[in-house]
Amino acid sequence: MMKLITLKFFTIAFCALISLLGCSQLATKSNSSEPPKTNAQDSLFNRMGGLPVIKIIVSETIDEVSSNPKTSRSFKDIKLPKLKESVVSQICKLTGGGCEYDGETMLNSHKDAKISTAEFELFVSVFRESLSRHTNTREKNELLKILAPMKRDIVTIQ
Ligand code: HEM
Repeated sequence: MMKLITLKFFTIAFCALISLLGCSQLATKSNSSEPPKTNAQDSLFNRMGGLPVIKIIVSETIDEVSSNPKTSRSFKDIKLPKLKESVVSQICKLTGGGCEYDGETMLNSHKDAKISTAEFELFVSVFRESLSRHTNTREKNELLKILAPMKRDIVTIQ
């Protein structure tokens, strides 16, 4: 009797497993031309690779703009590790990573530096190059789109 119950249990469990597998395969097939749902719905922060990737991109960008003669003047006397931390928190927050950003507004933090359009554009192109090395095109464009409107607060001279 016991043997029969055990056999029935395993038969039912086996059938259930087969039908589940069948369903999941069907679902995968019907969506095969689209990116996986879990990834598509993920935050930009996660799709970029989270804090490790954001830290690399911010660090590379700030190292380059603070040493390039065309942009370096604003970074004289600025504590770069602290600045990097602040920019990382801001990007983490903006991309859905749940960080706290307790720095200044973009207007307040840049107004004394009198940043020109040319300096801003160089900054963005350095940032874009770094994004190209470490993220996919979709994530790169999404982040650049989030940062683009900041230009009007950051650039204060022609
Ligand atoms: C979309 C572009 C930019 C973003 C997202 C950005 C973001 C930030 C953030 C978050 C801070 C820190 C604010 C704080 O902690 O209170 C900061 C400060 C600073 N940024 Fe930018 N920035 C951008 C463009 C630029 C450009 C183009 C330059 C110069 C070429 C620049 C130079 C600086 C400097 C020198 C500081 C330090 C200000 C200070 O501590 O007195 N930034 N930026």
